[in-house]
Amino acid sequence: MALAAAALVAASLAPARGEERDLAALREVFRRPEQTATVVAPEEEARARLGRHLFFERLLSGTGRMACSTCHDPARLFQDDRPRAVGVFYRALARRTPSLFDLANVRPLMRDGRAADLEAQVLMPILDPDEMGQTAKRLLAQLGQVSFYREAFAQIFPERGLTLDTLAQALASYVRTLESPRTAFDAWVEGDEAALEPEAQRGLALFAGKAGCVACHFGWRLSDDRFHDIGLPTNDLGRGRFDPDPSSRFAFRTPSLRWVGKRPPYMHDGSLADLRAVIEHYDRGGIARPSRSPLVRPLGLTPEEKALLLAFLESLSRPPPAEREVVRK
Ligand code: HEC
Ligand code: HEC
Repeated sequence: MALAAAALVAASLAPARGEERDLAALREVFRRPEQTATVVAPEEEARARLGRHLFFERLLSGTGRMACSTCHDPARLFQDDRPRAVGVFYRALARRTPSLFDLANVRPLMRDGRAADLEAQVLMPILDPDEMGQTAKRLLAQLGQVSFYREAFAQIFPERGLTLDTLAQALASYVRTLESPRTAFDAWVEGDEAALEPEAQRGLALFAGKAGCVACHFGWRLSDDRFHDIGLPTNDLGRGRFDPDPSSRFAFRTPSLRWVGKRPPYMHDGSLADLRAVIEHYDRGGIARPSRSPLVRPLGLTPEEKALLLAFLESLSRPPPAEREVVRK
C-alpha cells in the first residue's frame, strides 16, 4: 500500500513544475506509524536490559577487547564513521557498519539480507572469525564464569538459563529498543509547516518528483527495505551472492535516511564521502549494467536542484526547531 501511495505521489509531482504543488499529500507517505517498537511485554523489557549489558560486553569477542559497541557506537548513532568496519586483529571487513536505529520491524537484516531476523543476526558478528572471532563454546564458558550473567540469565530465562539462543534473544530485544530521535522533517510531517524551510520543501518536491528518490526511499524511515543495484562501482555482489535472480547482482538493502547527514561516508562500502557525492552519483545514474534498477538513471539535475535536494536531506538530520531551542538553553 505504501508503495502504491509513493508511486502515486511521485507521478503527481513528476512534472518539474511540481515544486509549486501542494506537498501536503506527501505527509502520508512519510508518516510514522503509532507502534514502531516491539518492546511491550514486561518480560521483553528485562531481556532488553540484559541485552544492553551484553552489547557493551567485551567477552563477546575472541580477544576480549571488542564489544558490539566498538563498531556500533551509541555516541555515533550506533555506527563508527569508518568506510569499512575493522574486525578483531585489525582485519578490514568488506562493508561499512550500519546504524542500528529503527530495526524492530525490519526483515531480513544485513545489507544483503542474509539474516532472517534480529535473533539470527546478533550471533553472526560474534562467531565470524574476522569480526569478533569468538567461539560458541568459549563464549558460554566465559560468560558462565561471571555471576552477574549466571544469575540474570537464570532469572530472565528460568527454564533455559544461559545458552546461545537466550543470549541472542537478549541482544535482539535490546536492539529492538533503539529508536532514532525525532527530526525537523518529522515535525513537518506532523503538521508544523515552519519546521521545513522553503529550500528543504522544494528539495522534498524534487525528492518525490524529478529525482525519483521516493520510489525506494519512502515511509517514516525513508526505506522500502528492498534490495536494489543503484549502479555503484563495486565488486561486492551483495544479495547476488546467494540470490540467483539477475537483478540481485550488486543489490543492497535500501538504508534508512533518518539522520543521514550525520553519518558519512555512505553506501555499503563507504565509497561516497558526503551527501554531495551521493547526489552527484544519482545525477549521473551510476554504471549501466543489466542488474541496475530501472529507477536509477541520469537525472539531469541543475546545480540549484542539487542544492535543494541537499537542503532536504539535511532536514532529515537535525532535531525539530522546538527541540533545538531546548538544547541551546
Ligand atoms: C567489527 C565491527 C562490528 C562489530 C563488533 C559488530 N558489528 Fe554489527 N555490523 C557490522 C557491519 C560491517 C555490518 C553490516 C554487515 C553486512 O550487512 O554485511 C553489521 C550489521 C549489523 C546488523 C544489521 C543491521 C541492518 O541494518 O541490517 C545488526 C542488527 C548488528 N550489526 C548488530 C550487532 C550486534 C548485536 C553486535 C554484537 C554482538 C555487532 N553488531 C557487532 C559491524 C560490526
Ligand atoms: C532503486 C532504488 C533507489 C532509488 C531510486 C534511490 N535510492 Fe538511495 N539508496 C538505495 C540503495 C539500495 C542504497 C544503498 C546502496 C549501497 O549500500 O550500496 C541507497 C543509498 C542511499 C544513500 C546512502 C545512505 C547510507 O546510509 O549510506 C543516500 C543518502 C541515498 N540513497 C539518497 C537517495 C537520493 C537523494 C535519491 C534520489 C536522487 C535516491 N537515494 C534514490 C536505493 C535507491
